[in-house]
Amino acid sequence: MFSEVPIDTEKVSKEDLDKEIMRVAIMAEFDAINMYEQMANLTDDEDLRIILLDIAKEEKVHAAMFQTVLMEVDHEYLKVMASYALAKDK
Ligand SMILES: [Fe+2]
Repeated sequence: MFSEVPIDTEKVSKEDLDKEIMRVAIMAEFDAINMYEQMANLTDDEDLRIILLDIAKEEKVHAAMFQTVLMEVDHEYLKVMASYALAKDK
């Protein structure tokens, strides 16, 4: 879990900064998914488990949102994702 943004802005070009922010955001969302799913598995309270799993699902939507906007600006990433998805489909 991040408590501060792990980007060294002195080493990142202005052109790449938003892409790095999106990648860090995706990592944070994936980390949140893991955390909520782990907590859901730890609790014996069914109501709490349902809430945690619902929030984990929302985090997956957030991750998808960041991945979508990243693919809009990082065309190489879009090509890799599309090529891999097509290869997996065979
Ligand atoms: Fe989120």
